[in-house]
Amino acid sequence: MSNYNTFNSNAEGGVTPAIINTNVETEALLGDTEREGGVTPAIINTNVETEALLGDTERDVSVTRKMNTNRQENQNPVSWLQITMNFAIHGLLLIFTIYVIYVSFSQGAFLFSWHPTLMTVGYAIFMTEAILSFSENNLLARNRNFKWRVKYHWILQAIGGASVAAGFIIILTNKFINEKSHFQTNHAIVGLVTIIVTALVAAGGIWTKYSYDLREYLRPVYAKLIHAALGGAVYILAVTALILGMNSDFFERYSFSSAKWVGGFILILTGVYILTKPLTTCIARFKTAFMRASL
Ligand code: HEM
Repeated sequence: MSNYNTFNSNAEGGVTPAIINTNVETEALLGDTEREGGVTPAIINTNVETEALLGDTERDVSVTRKMNTNRQENQNPVSWLQITMNFAIHGLLLIFTIYVIYVSFSQGAFLFSWHPTLMTVGYAIFMTEAILSFSENNLLARNRNFKWRVKYHWILQAIGGASVAAGFIIILTNKFINEKSHFQTNHAIVGLVTIIVTALVAAGGIWTKYSYDLREYLRPVYAKLIHAALGGAVYILAVTALILGMNSDFFERYSFSSAKWVGGFILILTGVYILTKPLTTCIARFKTAFMRASL
């Protein structure tokens, strides 16, 4: 129970204890939009193991949740392992991105050069950082409150989305200009699917932000879970599209011979690091939500 703050959240009544998990990755799936008209803050369980310990009382109060979105999230001291992993992951993605940009412009600044550049910057830098905004391992965000992280997440996703949209328009325009047919390769097809799902996730993010107001159509907890699950799917698709992009004739011709293997290794390694925690949390929350629904 070391990462849980247990305190009395009902100051006036002094009756209802609240147990709040300080794990922000989990809170990202709940947030204050899970408030469902309740007035009394009650027990908030954002962890399945804890739920098993708490039993029935907690399930009964699931309709009256409230999160303190302004509190400091992580008071635990940062470990050397976290610092090292942080620099390693960011460093590897930065090296990968700089190399893709270098190869893209190595033959001159053509319209096409901007496609790999903007796609890589959009996904490998901005969207990665946006996902990491909820991670306890993120040195920049770990001591910030939930509200700050949501804003940071939004801004980074918006910049990443704009970069991806520009990269997509550029490759379409480039193909029109050169009168080439569209969506013929594996990279092009996976890339198109990635962009469509990215647009859906962006719309889902807006829904999630206003999920409390939209609760009569979909419970906020489901809106958040769907957004998180699809966000994970987009990341996996983007990594696949990037790896297939490195298998394109263009990249093979102008990069060093094992660049696609090194690049693929970096993307898979960093992808596993970035997605493991959010996805396991998401699966646990799905289980809890369905268990509650079937009670
Ligand atoms: C997640 C990132 C990426 C996405 C979503 C993406 C998406 C796309 C799409 C949808 C097309 C097809 C356009 C059409 O047929 O009209 C395309 C084409 C292309 N992309 Fe990407 N791309 C990404 C990253 C990259 C990277 C990193 C490279 C190179 C290193 C690259 C190289 C190419 C090339 C050479 C083409 C033209 C040939 C083809 O259609 O396969 N792309 N991309």
